[in-house]
Amino acid sequence: MRRVLAAVLGLVLALWFALAAAVWWLNVRGDGGPDTQPVEVGDPALIARGAYLARAGNCRDCHTPRGGAAYAGGRGIPTPFGTVYSSNLTPDPQTGIGQWSAAEFRRALHHGRSRDGRLLYPAFPYDSYTQVSAADADALYAYLRSLPPVAQPNRPHALRFPYDTQWALALWRALYFRPGRFEAQPAQSEAWNRGAYLVQSLGHCNACHAERNALGAARSPLAVAGGLIPLQNWYAPPLGGQPAQPVATLLQHGVADGAALLGPMAEVVLHSTQHLTPPDLAAMAGYLQTLPAAAPRAATDGPTPAQVERGAKIYETRCAACHGDDGRGRSRAYVPLAGNRAVLREPPANLVQVVLGGAFPASTAGNPRPFGMPPFATELDDDDIAAVLSYVRNAWGNRAGAVRALDVQRWRSSVRP
Ligand code: HEC
Ligand code: HEC
Ligand code: HEC
Repeated sequence: MRRVLAAVLGLVLALWFALAAAVWWLNVRGDGGPDTQPVEVGDPALIARGAYLARAGNCRDCHTPRGGAAYAGGRGIPTPFGTVYSSNLTPDPQTGIGQWSAAEFRRALHHGRSRDGRLLYPAFPYDSYTQVSAADADALYAYLRSLPPVAQPNRPHALRFPYDTQWALALWRALYFRPGRFEAQPAQSEAWNRGAYLVQSLGHCNACHAERNALGAARSPLAVAGGLIPLQNWYAPPLGGQPAQPVATLLQHGVADGAALLGPMAEVVLHSTQHLTPPDLAAMAGYLQTLPAAAPRAATDGPTPAQVERGAKIYETRCAACHGDDGRGRSRAYVPLAGNRAVLREPPANLVQVVLGGAFPASTAGNPRPFGMPPFATELDDDDIAAVLSYVRNAWGNRAGAVRALDVQRWRSSVRP
């Protein structure tokens, strides 16, 4: 009996060690090698290239809290598991990256590990940045090293158990994170490959435009197939198969004929895409156009006549002044709601966010003083918002499913990062 017990115990222990070894190996493989090529940190051309790439990667946005010092970190990124705080990327030797080597910096982007080897949380979108080329990582490093140092210690994360432990993170990474390199497709044009690289790596478009599982991992890596952003309750739509020209214009100006980018995407335009060169934007849009278009979603039930009647009244008093009785907007200031793809989209989460929180397109060179829409969260209740949006989705030739008060209630509790 004792012998059997000992054998079982031995087996369990062996399995346990094998599993631990596998998780360990999955977390360290593909780790950057020794620093072979030193980086000319003072080279002005390299710094300028790094500054541009930092725009493409939107690094500053996450690494700068409102009103805080640029790149000094401390901005809270809300996740379903708690809040992760971004790190100080200024060259301060004690609290920033002043003592990091270029290789350690490369490893952080490529492999999601800090200077001391600590595993980093994927709120830092290294599942996309893993594809950033070594040369681009070096340029980013040179740029960050050129910034004024700010002495500001990193703020500890506020995560719930067990998500606050390194072993839980190691397990998550073993399951969902694969370090990767961007592989250019020789059959495609140079522009297509440039676009694919920017979208998949620095642009980290998949960080929002992907459906995620319960543990926060993208279901389809790199596919930008569309998904609801957890906590924020904005829906980032599928990006494949759309004509490239309006998409490139949208990314540059934040508005294009009859469409505006709002919410988290207005932030992306504001801090990132409007600063990219027209050839880079055209390359990104051209690449996205070649991805498969999403299958149309099944139609949901339309609104009841009573809901439409209630919605029409609210529209007349609250909305028509800007959006027009005929839903066609006014001149160039307000986009039309009639025939607007964003209005007809399933799920209607963004419409609910717009009415609750207001709408603010990004200020860009092509649209320097955008008009705004006031928030209605305190003025309209869930039934009002469901009614007015159901009306808007079924007036002036629009035809789409009803917005339910239950959805408004569900999406009302959204968190703004
Ligand atoms: C979506 C938000 C977000 C974006 C965009 C982002 N970061 Fe971060 N970054 C974070 C968070 C959060 C952490 C902290 C992760 C942790 O401590 O586990 C972090 C950590 C890091 C670290 C590790 C620092 C350390 O002390 O260990 C580096 C290096 C870094 N980011 C570089 C960059 C660069 C370069 C870019 C742009 C290409 C960038 N980040 C863009 C959120 C972001
Ligand atoms: C922080 C989250 C986030 C990131 C990162 C992000 N997006 Fe978006 N994106 C959204 C949301 C949310 C919407 C819907 C906005 C709206 O309806 O106004 C959107 C809308 C869009 C649209 C309009 C699509 C349509 O059919 O109307 C395009 C194009 C787009 N994004 C491209 C990109 C590209 C390219 C990237 C990467 C460079 C990117 N996005 C990164 C959140 C994000
Ligand atoms: C003060 C003017 C104003 C009022 C009042 C107003 N809006 Fe808006 N609305 C805007 C602006 C500005 C935008 C951002 C898009 C743009 O630049 O046209 C917008 C955007 C929207 C969008 C998103 C369109 C898209 O393409 O994503 C919807 C839906 C919408 N409004 C519905 C309403 C509803 C419903 C009401 C009444 C409850 C309302 N608006 C009241 C100005 C207004």
